[in-house]
Amino acid sequence: MLLEHIARTVWLLIPAYTPNNFAVLVGGGTPIDLGRNFVDGKRILGDGKTYRGFVGGIAGGVFAANLQYGIEKALGLRVYASLPYGEFFGLTLLLAFGAMLGDSLGSFIKRRFGYERGASFPIIDQLAFLFVALLVASFSSGFWKLFTYDVIVAAVVLTPLLHVSVNYIAYKLNLKEVPW
Ligand code: CTP
Ligand code: MG
Repeated sequence: MLLEHIARTVWLLIPAYTPNNFAVLVGGGTPIDLGRNFVDGKRILGDGKTYRGFVGGIAGGVFAANLQYGIEKALGLRVYASLPYGEFFGLTLLLAFGAMLGDSLGSFIKRRFGYERGASFPIIDQLAFLFVALLVASFSSGFWKLFTYDVIVAAVVLTPLLHVSVNYIAYKLNLKEVPW
């Protein structure tokens, strides 16, 4: 079933989706690039990438994943809970870490193209974190048991669509100034 496949894919991606939201909540303080410029004279990453956001984002993703594991156990579902806890933990920690790493890589690329902090750069904003999260997590033993090719394809197709629709809904609810 298509809807079931979509729901399963989104569920599997929650540990990669949530870190940036937690980073927004807890971020601030010292920027990862310590305010320094790259050889092109522009900031390496910019003030939007901080140590607190990076670490807090990973912690947030791990927290969300553990909630998911608990919910699955309580409801008798077996997606993440089909893995032993250690394998589940390694996989979701790497998804969260990879998401924050990819988020920083996205900022590095944006700065090289001259985009200011906070400017929107469509494909990079929506897929850099996902590709790096999947790449980093693929080194865990649990990854290939759950992230089959059909899940990976759905992830790449769904993520930009989710990004656009969530932002549009937030705009309609007056939570955001602009619909992107
Ligand atoms: N944030 C942070 N540390 C991170 C990632 C995010 O502190 N490693 C916080 C920052 O306050 C940032 C906000 O979360 O402004 C939103 O994150 P994001 O959209 O990724 O950053 P932008 O400010 O849009 O900067 P950029 O143009 O570099 O993406
Ligand atoms: Mg941004």
